[in-house]
Amino acid sequence: MIIITNSEAETIIEGEMLGRSLVPGVVVALEGGLGAGKTAFVRGLAAGLGIEQAITSPTFTIVNEYPGAVPLFHFDMYRIGDENELFDIGWDDYLERGGVCAVEWSEKITEALTGDEIRVRLERLSAGSRKISIDFPHDREEADSGGGRVNADTGL
Ligand SMILES: Nc1ncnc2c1ncn2[C@@H]1O[C@H](COP(=O)(O)OP(=O)(O)OP(=O)(O)O)[C@@H](O)[C@H]1O
Ligand SMILES: [Mg+2]
Repeated sequence: MIIITNSEAETIIEGEMLGRSLVPGVVVALEGGLGAGKTAFVRGLAAGLGIEQAITSPTFTIVNEYPGAVPLFHFDMYRIGDENELFDIGWDDYLERGGVCAVEWSEKITEALTGDEIRVRLERLSAGSRKISIDFPHDREEADSGGGRVNADTGL
């Protein structure tokens, strides 16, 4: 799915729409350079999950936790070092905790990703516009197998 937004507020709304549909345990892997709008999108995710707390970028702390009916674990991997550091912050534990993991700079931890993530790529088109590509794991499976696969959810 590809969406163009023309303001930060529009990007937040797109994040909110995705956030409303997220189930516990899902990982949202965000990509896009500095200022692409990843944190803005995560603010929307939080709103969609019903989290009212203000979302701040976890650049220096790597992860911020926001409690809720479905908690949000917001990672910023910009400063992550190696796999050991990922282990040290408790990455595996977060995956088990029944929250939504939103991961900025997910391209820095590709070895830890399973392919089951929802991928969100943000690209800066101009000062105020962004292209947002959202890929769901099921759609990728379909593309990989030439579209002939049975939908596990609907049986069609
Ligand atoms: N359509 C848009 N969507 C999102 N942000 C936009 C848009 N247009 C302009 N902006 C601006 O771009 C910036 C996006 O900042 P944001 O912190 O969300 O980026 P980021 O991808 O998280 O960056 P970083 O890699 O530093 O964490 C903000 O200053 C915001 O106002
Ligand atoms: Mg950010």
